[in-house]
Amino acid sequence: MLSEMLLTEISRLSLLDKLPLHRQLYEALRRAVLDGKLSAGDRLPSSRELAQDLSISRNTVMAALNQLTVEGYLTSRVGSGTFISERVPKATAQQRSSHCNQDPILSRRGLPLASAFCATELEIYPFTPGLVDFSAFPVALWQRLQNKHWRMTYPDLLDYSYSGGYAPLRRAVADYLRVFRSVPLEVEQVIITNGTQQSMELCAQLLVDYRDVVWIEDPAYWGAVKAFMATGLTLHPVPVDGSGIAPQAADNGVPPRLIYVTPSHQYPTGAVMSLTRRQQLLALARQHKAWVLEDDYDSEFRFSGPPISSLAGLDTDERVLYMGSFSKVLYPGLKLGYLVVPKGLTSSFKQAHYDLNRPGQMPVQAALAEFIEMGHFASALRRARQSYFERRRCLLAALQPCLGEHAQITGAEQGLHLCLRLPTVVDDKALARRIGQFNLTVRPLSSYCLERTDARGLVIGYGYAPLAEIERCGPLLAGAISETLERLKAPTRR
Ligand SMILES: Cc1ncc(COP(=O)(O)O)c(C=O)c1O
Repeated sequence: MLSEMLLTEISRLSLLDKLPLHRQLYEALRRAVLDGKLSAGDRLPSSRELAQDLSISRNTVMAALNQLTVEGYLTSRVGSGTFISERVPKATAQQRSSHCNQDPILSRRGLPLASAFCATELEIYPFTPGLVDFSAFPVALWQRLQNKHWRMTYPDLLDYSYSGGYAPLRRAVADYLRVFRSVPLEVEQVIITNGTQQSMELCAQLLVDYRDVVWIEDPAYWGAVKAFMATGLTLHPVPVDGSGIAPQAADNGVPPRLIYVTPSHQYPTGAVMSLTRRQQLLALARQHKAWVLEDDYDSEFRFSGPPISSLAGLDTDERVLYMGSFSKVLYPGLKLGYLVVPKGLTSSFKQAHYDLNRPGQMPVQAALAEFIEMGHFASALRRARQSYFERRRCLLAALQPCLGEHAQITGAEQGLHLCLRLPTVVDDKALARRIGQFNLTVRPLSSYCLERTDARGLVIGYGYAPLAEIERCGPLLAGAISETLERLKAPTRR
């Protein structure tokens, strides 16, 4: 029954649109859910059965199911199968029999936006990736600076910000980027945003049109996935290898208007984009007349290997927009980041940012500018680097016994997380759940994948837990990983 329905929908879609087969299956299943033909809790046939019934490859089925899982339409339970997510509104009996469409509570756009990307791993425990230890933040000093600027605040600082942010803060950011990230820029090009999320949205809103194609790394940063979904773009996942995003000839058939990359430490694999790849990417962007969004989210923390300069620093064509954030060095709730736009775009971006977001918080921006000017940012960064360096060393030492043919670490030279790559046969979601039983959070690499089905591993953060916790919990983590790897080596019983 389901297969017949899907086949009908797929053939209808193939007449309308030249979508690849996995996108047609994705769309057919998505519509079946949204139209109430499949509803919360319904179990899907296995990927093998679906592939057989539809006479398509299992990889095609897996790619469609993966995408629907990422977007929150499906959930899988180990040993029981794949189900329509409980977040999808239940269809009534009448709806099921008549197949008529009842409006879902959320819009088609809203449903995936409201689903958690890594739903089962949201708890915060040692090793949660993407988190920093803000306990070291100099709260008393910050409070003094805030008070000072509140006392001094002129009425115009209480207004919205018209000009891309507080001028001394934009100057401080420009000075930092010129020296430490080799970004050639003028202060005018810096726009203070309320973080990378807002920077990405602004770029998507201003540079591309609804349904235009954005190339996104696969595996991907979920914040970027959601920002582009929310702005109505068509995501085209491009696999990442050891040198970063690796477009193939076939990808050129889906020309991008926007390319989102994390070149200095790919999120989540940690791959560093090689110079050759950077040059190829810039050439590709030029060829397609596409914009490149460089997310330089954790470049402040480089622990080993040669320094890596930014992609924006190599750009001679004004195609790269550079994004940074204060979330990692200071604290995420500060909600301040920056976007560097090409000269020709500055006034349009400032105007649109003002109209769309009504930016403000100028007294906080003034306090931050002084925090940087007085050298407190540089000392906070030095302290944080030292502290994270120790935590990283301790985690690497703890993981040492697991490493070998079946487990390698990538991306440990920089940032606040590393990636432990595992063989494709390992169920990394099950392993992450097993590790969760020790009250530790690691994220399965496969949860970050959009289309690819070959990436398995664990994304392990060392930014959140203090050193003593890493010392205590590292062996538990390593033990659980080794246990899984041992099982791979054991001869299978007949
Ligand atoms: C890849 C990536 N980009 C950007 C950010 C920072 O985002 P924001 O400035 O919105 O806090 C993060 C934070 O975890 C991240 O992992």
